[in-house]
Amino acid sequence: MFAAYVNSFSSESPVDGLVLGERPDPVAPDGWTIVTVKAAALNHHDLWSLRGVGLREESLPMILGCDAAGHDEDGNEVIVHAVISDPAWTGDETMDPKRSLLSEVYDGTLADKIAIPARNVVPKPRGLSFEEAACLPTAWLTAYRMLFTQADLNPGDTVLIQGAGGGVATAAISLAREAGMRVYATSRDESKRAKALEIGAHDVFEPGARLPRRVDAVMETVGAATWSHSIKSLRPGGTVVMCGATSGFTPERGELNRIFALQLRVHGSTMGTKGELAALADFMDVSGLRPLIDRVLPMEQADQGLRAMDEGRVFGKIVVTR
Ligand SMILES: NC(=O)c1ccc[n+]([C@@H]2O[C@H](COP(=O)([O-])OP(=O)(O)OC[C@H]3O[C@@H](n4cnc5c(N)ncnc54)[C@H](OP(=O)(O)O)[C@@H]3O)[C@@H](O)[C@H]2O)c1
Repeated sequence: MFAAYVNSFSSESPVDGLVLGERPDPVAPDGWTIVTVKAAALNHHDLWSLRGVGLREESLPMILGCDAAGHDEDGNEVIVHAVISDPAWTGDETMDPKRSLLSEVYDGTLADKIAIPARNVVPKPRGLSFEEAACLPTAWLTAYRMLFTQADLNPGDTVLIQGAGGGVATAAISLAREAGMRVYATSRDESKRAKALEIGAHDVFEPGARLPRRVDAVMETVGAATWSHSIKSLRPGGTVVMCGATSGFTPERGELNRIFALQLRVHGSTMGTKGELAALADFMDVSGLRPLIDRVLPMEQADQGLRAMDEGRVFGKIVVTR
């Protein structure tokens, strides 16, 4: 079958280690099933994998990709849940110490077919296209859990979303607006700030700018470059939820004094549960909200999409199709 896979690592030029070619068809062990992929979405996670972050040399070649929508073995339209927990694990699978994401231990979704545990599918709402549904399992699910589970935000609350152009950030802007929050967003890029307004931000700012009011919560994906601003933007008792650190893990100022003096909460977040993915799919179906898709490419051009993401030339999700 056709697949996009990592064959070698490079931190400087990650896409050089990508191969677009043939891999053996997957075999489903007991309790697993095969999904035929119609659409898959790219994530920053794929670039980390190409850099060798979270993947070991001995796991290569590894098919990339966390997100997919397609058909199960009975022809049902399904969305793939990317968090693979231990078969014995019950409860919130993101808390399983043995969990992995597709493409970390088991081959990922950038392929004609994928083997996954039978419990790792949710029904795709008919109203969502395969391309739209493929955007949900990583970036959109992560944003959903950050806003509604971890920050516990309510209609009328104010939220700041840093780095407006990313997949998680665009999802968070759209979801927060649809849920009735006041939405502030930052971006380094003027055109991305304009687009953030179009998808639901009430107001946009350059990174580090003083906001009109302090916020109830901040959604952090940028890391070192925006950390200090995130902490300074919170009201007393506010929450910063962090799921990634694209610009690095070591902020110049940790703002530790503010964290205790203002009784702030710092909350890590990773992906979401299958229940949250199903709830997100329902939310999209009922609200009519749709993921912002930057571009759709044939899977044979996944390298172009990954390069665009590596160079920050993206606003929303890049989807690849079969
Ligand atoms: N824990 C999880 O479950 C999980 C799930 C999904 C993603 N993640 C992580 O979350 C992060 C975001 O991923 P993503 O795929 O949504 O998007 P991404 O492509 O990594 O983009 C994030 C945004 O960061 C901003 N940014 C990057 N470098 C910056 C810098 N030096 N200064 C200021 N802003 C900078 C950019 O915003 P502007 O260009 O608009 O300024 C960019 O749009 C990644 O690190 C990813 O690995 C984690």
